Amino acid sequence: MLHLQEAGFSYGGREILSGVNLDVAPGSFYFLTGPSGAGKTTFLRLCYQALMPTKGVVRILDRDVRGLHREDIAQIRRRIGVVHQDCQFVDHMNMEDNIRMPLQVSGRNTELDDRSFQDLISWVGLSAHMSALPPELSSGERQRAALARAVVMSPDLILADEPTGNLDWEMAQKILTLLIELNKMGKTVIVATHDLQLIRMAKSKVSTRVLRLANNKVQLAGVDL
Ligand SMILES: Nc1ncnc2c1ncn2[C@@H]1O[C@H](COP(=O)(O)OP(=O)(O)O)[C@@H](O)[C@H]1O
Ligand SMILES: [Mg+2]
Repeated sequence: MLHLQEAGFSYGGREILSGVNLDVAPGSFYFLTGPSGAGKTTFLRLCYQALMPTKGVVRILDRDVRGLHREDIAQIRRRIGVVHQDCQFVDHMNMEDNIRMPLQVSGRNTELDDRSFQDLISWVGLSAHMSALPPELSSGERQRAALARAVVMSPDLILADEPTGNLDWEMAQKILTLLIELNKMGKTVIVATHDLQLIRMAKSKVSTRVLRLANNKVQLAGVDL
């Protein structure tokens, strides 16, 4: 699904990631932990090709990201759903249009019939909020909407950047449950978080691996947390 070999990334001359080796198998569930500023968001950006590695190799869905044409990148990005740290909605568009946006952009809006869309929206518990504007939603509702938008294209890989960052524990559990359900449907999931309680809860429900980001390195953490 995802293969990094001696991959590194620097902003300007400043190294953020170096010597990253990782093989993410299809259907696996990973957490990515590390202190704020360690490079979690940068790592996820490498995984969805918002950034290119400055060193080494990144292969996504069996394609080396270097030398890909724009259309290839667009095609691969369609198979990846991203839940951004700050949700990134268009504030003057209602929630339905925001969530449908990836379909619209890719010209696939007709493929997801109304029934499937309603199923998705009720799965995240937002059926009553589709005509609301993003600023009218609570942070938990926004995060669930961001998750719905990330999976509206039926991606194979889901990358969630601190999806429970500013939520209370009950809502964080709800988001995690949705991510676990997606994984049980066969999707590969990577969640950046520094919430160890969340990781412990996930470990009791699904087989997960934990990657720890420190000193520019990504390391597989042991079983104890
Ligand atoms: N666009 C950018 N240009 C320069 N430095 C950046 C940029 N984005 C992030 N950084 C820096 O890279 C480091 C890692 O950031 P980030 O990946 O966002 O960490 P995390 O998500 O773990 O908090 C931070 O020190 C941050 O300031
Ligand atoms: Mg971040």
